[in-house]
Amino acid sequence: MKITIAIDGPAGAGKSTVAKILADKLGLLYIDTGAMYRAATWLALQEHINLEDGESLAEALCHKDLRLESPEESAGGRIRVFLNDHEITDAIRGKEVSDRVSTVAAQKMVRKVLVEQQRKLARGRSAVLDGRDIGTVVLPDADLKIFLTASAEERARRRVKDLEGLGEKESYDDVLRAIIERDKQDSTRQEAPLVKAADAVEVDTDGLTIEEVVNKIADLCKNGKGGRKDQ
Ligand code: CDP
Repeated sequence: MKITIAIDGPAGAGKSTVAKILADKLGLLYIDTGAMYRAATWLALQEHINLEDGESLAEALCHKDLRLESPEESAGGRIRVFLNDHEITDAIRGKEVSDRVSTVAAQKMVRKVLVEQQRKLARGRSAVLDGRDIGTVVLPDADLKIFLTASAEERARRRVKDLEGLGEKESYDDVLRAIIERDKQDSTRQEAPLVKAADAVEVDTDGLTIEEVVNKIADLCKNGKGGRKDQ
């Protein structure tokens, strides 16, 4: 039986952590679409392409091999990201990319290229995809759609911790401001804005551990909220 799970939600709601663990638990492929927009942003900075010049950036992306690789099971941790075999796993998580990624993600041509790649990666497979437009645009027929949320304050606290892990020190206030700004940009853009799909289940993660969130989604899966027997 093939199953596809779409996890959307605002910045720092824990989508990628939860999606990765869920994918391992259920034996599904995990596709981190945010990492793809981050890689596009890194490429624009690297090649001095104007962040609002979607056409040039889409063209540049078409000439690169963007690859997501699951870390060894035993190593745990994040998805590894490569552009033409150059590893950018950590580089795409820093402030430089985070502060600019929403501008790049608003470009129609960039989205066209990346959405196509995302659909191709998921085609015919059981997979968990996380992002902003998975349930609405990328996989509107996903078997289970989750909209993962948390208060902006909780998300900022988590992000400060994440950044500490990367060796970047940032104040809580700055991170909170940046998160609110990114949500605003993502929700108000014209192309595929961040919005809860009509048939998505909203999961508020405030006060829940990662394990509790994963179990909640796995239960929704088991209880037939997801999974089409005809596929
Ligand atoms: O991990 P975090 O929630 O901070 O962000 P992310 O999932 O890595 O995504 C980074 C940015 O990429 C988002 O703020 C969006 O601007 C963009 N994005 C998007 O537009 N569509 C997606 N499917 C995934 C990410």
